[in-house]
Amino acid sequence: MGEPDLPDFYNDLDRSLRAAWSLLACGVKDRKAPAHTPVLATNGDSGPRVRTVVLRACDPETRRLRFHTDRRSHKVAEIAADPAGAVHVYDPKQKVQLRLDCQLSVHIGDELAQEAWAATRDFSRVCYQVMQGPGEAVSDPREVPFSADDSKDGWDHFAVISALVTRIEWLYLAAHGHRRAEFLWQEGDWHGRWLVP
Ligand SMILES: Cc1cc2nc3c(=O)[nH]c(=O)nc-3n(C[C@H](O)[C@H](O)[C@H](O)COP(=O)(O)O)c2cc1C
Repeated sequence: MGEPDLPDFYNDLDRSLRAAWSLLACGVKDRKAPAHTPVLATNGDSGPRVRTVVLRACDPETRRLRFHTDRRSHKVAEIAADPAGAVHVYDPKQKVQLRLDCQLSVHIGDELAQEAWAATRDFSRVCYQVMQGPGEAVSDPREVPFSADDSKDGWDHFAVISALVTRIEWLYLAAHGHRRAEFLWQEGDWHGRWLVP
């Protein structure tokens, strides 16, 4: 009786870390991957706030993830008040959960926002042309006004959220025994250790 088919990262911290970043990177390219739509958590006035967002970019070298949003959305004010955030992904096919601690920053009108805006398509720009801010009350959902002015293409409302990852918690579910690890960014490198699942 040999070992059941286990992934190469099963008992290997470095490979688990690489697999975590690879899962995130796939989420940028593959619209069907669960990592394409992670949950982003911020701290609101009265407690934690969570919402689904599209993962637009992921760079393991700089430890940064990128999301796009409307600068008038509640999350932007929450990040300004408290930059601590978290990101959650569960990929049921891979049987991997990732919990990331992040420092969040908002970019409005700067070079990063300009680059990101240049890469957006017209249909994605439409949602930034809504005249009232996201989350404002409306009396009739059929009458949410969008800008009729062609020069207002949504750029004024566009914001990039950049997440600098400071801790990664990895959980791999396996019948043979789960594997849980944490990776902390300290003194310029990732330091991993196994945890009881
Ligand atoms: C599949 C999916 C993808 C979403 N992608 C984004 C996104 O990329 N950016 C965004 O601001 N909101 C996105 N939303 C909407 C947010 O979940 C949320 O409702 C909205 O941003 C308001 O959040 P806030 O009031 O906490 O700022 C998405 C929702 C879903 C269901």
